Amino acid sequence: MAGSKYAYVKAFELPDPILPNTFIILRVDGHSFHRFTDEHSFHKPNDERALALMDRAAIDLMNEHKDIVLAFGESDEFSFLLRRSTALYNRRLSKILSSLTSQFTSSYVFHWHEYFPETPLLFPPSFDGRIVLYPGEKEVRDYFAWRQVDTHINNLYNTTFWALVQTGGQTTTQAHAHLKGTQSKEKNEILFNLFGINYNNIPARFRKGSVLVRQEVNGQLDRYASDMASEGPVILPDVLGHGDHVGSTIVRDSPNAACPPTISSSSTTAYPSHNNGGIPESPVRKTHKSNPRTVVRVLHVDIIRDDFWNDMPHILSE
Ligand code: GTP
Ligand code: MG
Repeated sequence: MAGSKYAYVKAFELPDPILPNTFIILRVDGHSFHRFTDEHSFHKPNDERALALMDRAAIDLMNEHKDIVLAFGESDEFSFLLRRSTALYNRRLSKILSSLTSQFTSSYVFHWHEYFPETPLLFPPSFDGRIVLYPGEKEVRDYFAWRQVDTHINNLYNTTFWALVQTGGQTTTQAHAHLKGTQSKEKNEILFNLFGINYNNIPARFRKGSVLVRQEVNGQLDRYASDMASEGPVILPDVLGHGDHVGSTIVRDSPNAACPPTISSSSTTAYPSHNNGGIPESPVRKTHKSNPRTVVRVLHVDIIRDDFWNDMPHILSE
């Protein structure tokens, strides 16, 4: 079909293919979430409803795009690793970046009312997105280690800061001054000595973020599984041997079309004041014919040390 005289402008649209055989990491990050969280009265320092909603949007994205092999979320951000050989959208950078960021945002808004039933959205949240390419496994592992170390640093600071303010009666200015120049050890001591809080007993979700992996039912990765048929909160044993209670959310691609459209569980840990707070659970997904028995699982585990990667070699090998 002949174009109009204006059609030449199409030639200005340049291809933007991503280099073959490189790892693609997409990171989405809430835009101005300092303001968004304030105006929607998020709990400080961590709002579990908000974190679960972030997980939910990430699960939706992983169910939509099977080439996402790993995701990691903390605070207002989520990182997604696409398998090295992905041909998603012919590896067109702007197509992947814009579509996935948009899908994540849309899912966040779509499910908002399930997680914040009492809090109407006052204005639309948005997420920015970036794609970074990594040439090798070392860089990918270091990337995720970087994000999880960031989770730890921020959470320790925020937990101590808000303990000083909320329980200790300090002003925010005083709390800032109190923590200025302190190392991790000193913050741990403040928490324990002043407030009787053992940092290691804080929910793993807050300390380690959310690690989303895709697992085959009965597959090699069932080291992390307890009872796939179980409903309700799942507390796994110390699977990594690091002294953590590991919460796990299971989202199934059910092979059984007759399977009722219910549910997985949300994480729970040994933190005393912690419960599931009415946070909704994620639905079982319909059968995906070519990949009939997979689940997306939400873990709160260490991804810095070798154990996780040794247990899940498929993440980097595909
Ligand atoms: P840009 O990303 O640059 O647009 O700025 P931002 O305001 O989103 O800040 P940034 O992404 O660096 O940090 C996220 C911010 O979200 C934190 O500083 C907090 O203010 C807020 N936030 C994230 N998670 C929570 C939460 O669980 N509770 C509360 N109260 N605030 C949160
Ligand atoms: Mg942000």
